[in-house]
Amino acid sequence: MKISKKISVISAAVALFCGTAMAVAADTKDQPWMNQKLAARERADLVLKEMSLDEKLKLVFGYMGAEWKNTPPPAEARTQSAGFIPGVPRLGIPNLWEADAGIGVASQAGPNAREATALPSGLNTAATWDPNTAYAGGAMIGAEARAFGFNVMLAGGVNLMRDPRNGRNFEYGGEDPLLAGRIVGAQIKGIQSNRIVSTLKHYALNDQESGRTTLDVKIDDRSARMSDLLAMQIAKEEGNPGSVMCSYNRVNGVYACENSYLLNEVLKHDWGFQGWVMSDWGATHSTIAAANAGLDQESGFPFDLSNYFAAPLKEAVQNGWVPPARLDDMVRRILVPMFEHGVIDHPVAAPAPATIDFKAHAAVSIKDAQEGMVLLKNSGGVLPLKASAQRIAVIGGYADKGVLAGGGSSLVYPVGGNAVPGLEPKTWPGPVMVYPSSPLKALQRRLPKASMRFNDGADPAAAARLAKDSDVVVLFATQWTGEGMDVPNLSLPKNQDALIAAVTAANPKTVVVLETGGPVTMPWLPQAAAVLEAWFPGTGGGEAIAGVLTGETNPSGHLPATFPASESQLPRPVLDGYPEVENRRFDVDYHEGAAVGYKWFDLKELKPLFPFGYGLSYTEFAMSDLAAEVKNGVLQASFKVKNTGRVAGKQVAQVYVAPLQAKWEAPKRLAGFQKLDVKPGASARGSVSIDPRLLAVYESASKTWKVEAGDYRLVLAASAMDPQASSVVVHLDAATYDVNGKPLKE
Ligand code: BGC
Repeated sequence: MKISKKISVISAAVALFCGTAMAVAADTKDQPWMNQKLAARERADLVLKEMSLDEKLKLVFGYMGAEWKNTPPPAEARTQSAGFIPGVPRLGIPNLWEADAGIGVASQAGPNAREATALPSGLNTAATWDPNTAYAGGAMIGAEARAFGFNVMLAGGVNLMRDPRNGRNFEYGGEDPLLAGRIVGAQIKGIQSNRIVSTLKHYALNDQESGRTTLDVKIDDRSARMSDLLAMQIAKEEGNPGSVMCSYNRVNGVYACENSYLLNEVLKHDWGFQGWVMSDWGATHSTIAAANAGLDQESGFPFDLSNYFAAPLKEAVQNGWVPPARLDDMVRRILVPMFEHGVIDHPVAAPAPATIDFKAHAAVSIKDAQEGMVLLKNSGGVLPLKASAQRIAVIGGYADKGVLAGGGSSLVYPVGGNAVPGLEPKTWPGPVMVYPSSPLKALQRRLPKASMRFNDGADPAAAARLAKDSDVVVLFATQWTGEGMDVPNLSLPKNQDALIAAVTAANPKTVVVLETGGPVTMPWLPQAAAVLEAWFPGTGGGEAIAGVLTGETNPSGHLPATFPASESQLPRPVLDGYPEVENRRFDVDYHEGAAVGYKWFDLKELKPLFPFGYGLSYTEFAMSDLAAEVKNGVLQASFKVKNTGRVAGKQVAQVYVAPLQAKWEAPKRLAGFQKLDVKPGASARGSVSIDPRLLAVYESASKTWKVEAGDYRLVLAASAMDPQASSVVVHLDAATYDVNGKPLKE
């Protein structure tokens, strides 16, 4: 029998777990908190009693895990990492080793950058509309985090897409609270299945990057609870993250990391969050105010102006400005998830990247990419590309070398290194990274009879000449985005619209593949034969794209965000605070309230370029038999999806609800969805249970969700603007639900 040298991380981790579980069991006499039969809370209380003031203070003060401002990280920090918090070895409390982020185990820039597997962007994962895929991706990157010696992953980004120009949209889950919350929640769960902690971030309303550390978001409680906060609430419920990261911005005048309304009231009191709140790196601004408002751990020394949770916190506790019981609460909140999620019972070991099966992990990433790519247009059956001999021009987007990744702290350095080093910007939030997975080569392998020629697209006239002399053209266009910046507008940068116009004019059989951080405008759309939105497609992006273009995989992604026809359709046609002026404080008025994305477009009767939920397939579906009933107080919808085409495919059935009498923030909301795999000619039945919060309006004074008695139209559709949608009307009685959507007696 041949035994592979590389074992799967999962089995390596299991071996580790068993070893440590036995070692830990022996200690329970002297260290009763090591008794795994006790509840996490009980264990945390037992160990808390043994801790000195200084030991408690150590746990609430975090360091940057890489050199910053000429300050080296603590010696025990993992190389080029985001964070480090020393544990309490005499009590068996391990260090916390923190790694970014939601796309994989990221690395701070530097000579020792770690190479890991990158998932496609968060938006791509949201575009899968499949929590199982999100979970699998989370489980994979969490396994790598453990193999690299990390026990906290700074993942779980679920800031709502209020503005398609936000440079970090690619890290998040799109514009709808239900979709984003479910997908990111599933990813968090997958990460934590490795007995490590994930965060949920950036709490809250950190929806643009320009001026992110100075801007003040204006929004009322009700609108926030029905939009951004709802996405976070759902992700928290689905994923049970051990930690929440508070954000840089201010909300209604108060910094998020010292905002008692956000931290003490909404997160801890109303939602019952039992874990710890860590600050974003540089987002702590005070000692007493922050500690008493609910911040449990300052992150990333030396990012903040001062070491607020070091000596100043000790003084504040000693003189009573921060009650000692509050310090205990801070520490308990760190310890409880460490016990609950297995960080203490199954400690991470020194980094062992050699144990990672990168091939198997790339396959997880490729599956995610293929499930999330969105076919936006396909006229004349140009796709899938035919296997017969033909001359194919491949143009632009570094397609001969690889696929684009987004920039900033979430950047995963790929195995094999940057395929196109030296692109600008080379420094933060760069380097611009191109993963070494060439779509051109992956296409050549799949279409051996075709003659393929590449042109880099730098000269539109030359590209057009090649296009003219080809049977079909595959043109790659890119939009790089990154943390700490927004894009100036929704146009493809670097003259690529002109390139596409020239190429489509030369050859109308042009397939445009987009690798973008989010929505872009497409002035050339009528002239292009096909468009595939491939987002930032991750480690194996070239393979994933070629698989979809050749029909090996039938595309099944649907947009997790509206693609506007122009910036003028947005609630803020001009992005506040752009371009950024350092230290300028300004307000961002979220006057659209909870009417985010398609809800805004519905409300204002605007026609987008592509609606939320939209996505084509190589087959056709017919959806029918929509029925609704209230069972045990829960509204449920069932339906049928028939594959009426010739190949197997997956349909994303979406159920929207529109009130006929009640007044909502917008005409309709997504209330449920299900992705169904259907063979040609076959039918599948689907059903969704509807969260009552999606049928209700939040009432701030009573902290309840109120469903108004009346008629509600349930719409079964394949997008937010599906002309073939069918609907039924149901009558709902008045009902009241608590702040977490649990029924209350009328
Ligand atoms: C980002 C966080 C990240 C942290 C640590 C910050 O700049 O906003 O998302 O986790 O840095 O790298």
